[in-house]
Amino acid sequence: MTIILRVDPTNPDEEALSRAAEVIRGGGLVAFPTETVYGLGANVFDRRALMRVYEVKQRPVDNPLIIHVDSLEMLREVARDIPEEAFKLASRFWPGPLTLILLKSGRVPYEATGGLETVAVRMPAHPVALKLISRAGVPIAAPSANLSGRPSPTRGEHVVRDLYSKVDVIIDAGETLYGVESTIVNILVKPPVLLRPGAYPVEEVERVLGVRIHVPEFARGLSEAESAMAPGTRYRHYAPNTPLILVEAGSYEGEALKRLSMEVARRIGEFKGRRVCVLSSRETSSAYTGLGVEVFVLGSRDNLFAVARNLFNALRWVDDAGCEVAIAEGYPERGLGLTIMNRLRKAASRRIFI
Ligand code: TXA
Ligand code: MG
Repeated sequence: MTIILRVDPTNPDEEALSRAAEVIRGGGLVAFPTETVYGLGANVFDRRALMRVYEVKQRPVDNPLIIHVDSLEMLREVARDIPEEAFKLASRFWPGPLTLILLKSGRVPYEATGGLETVAVRMPAHPVALKLISRAGVPIAAPSANLSGRPSPTRGEHVVRDLYSKVDVIIDAGETLYGVESTIVNILVKPPVLLRPGAYPVEEVERVLGVRIHVPEFARGLSEAESAMAPGTRYRHYAPNTPLILVEAGSYEGEALKRLSMEVARRIGEFKGRRVCVLSSRETSSAYTGLGVEVFVLGSRDNLFAVARNLFNALRWVDDAGCEVAIAEGYPERGLGLTIMNRLRKAASRRIFI
């Protein structure tokens, strides 16, 4: 049986949090909101609870989980030999959507790390997440609270859809702030490597570190990671069931943007008689009116925060709206644009470059 607890995101009901924390301590699974996406939480020191996370999500067991802490003291419970850079980044970005790869402590079971000697750790900024960890008194291992391969949940109802009856508690606190997952950086190597672009632009992390961060092809969503360094990137992610065509361009300014929307319109024409859905930006949406398609406006190209925030909801909508084919526009790979392109490329069944 699953208990759904609806709480206020900024001032969550104390009793509800105590109840959920009790479930974590007792080895149960609690889906909870973070500022990025919802997570499916378990006590990181409880092997059986961790195994259940994989089972419930139908997640490959070599794809490790992110460990959530509420303090630097708790960080020391899960990581050892923490480099100075980690504290530098933590003081600037925590609590917040930056996940660091560190050496694991002896206390963290391999079930949480997919067999690796490293852990992925972050301190979430959502009041519900922070309070839940504090009350539970243990670090909480939590992957995104979706079924493996599905878009990450940005609303309580997404979690209910994917995990109802499979977990013990779902804390529903409405829509999450960023709507995309945390940025993951491996600072154990030189230069540091971006494993997943996320809610914080990698350029901001570079500014604080004062060094360039290597952005591998797989972080751009262009290829599969071969090494065990970035296990999660090997699997197909975020994909709607509906085929999704991603139209990319070398530039997204002025005339180039116009050409992009004309290409999307031309592609729409190829699917006459089919239900076509378009993931559009505000600037280009008028190019698709009168073409008999459903248009989801993600946001303005001048506000990639909004585009990123709406993206997973849009990917779920593509299936829910009964689209037979979906077409998405690309974005420049700067700032949050890199995050958006990583997710879109992983979701796409086909990419077109104009
Ligand atoms: O925003 C987020 O990060 C959300 C919320 C719930 O905190 N969590 C999340 O977890 O996105 P998940 O499991 O969907 O993604 C975790 C990623 C995976 O790609 C995994 O491979 C990587 O983190 N990861 C975990 N431990 C790792 C490690 N030791 N080395 C390299 N990558 C690791
Ligand atoms: Mg995930």
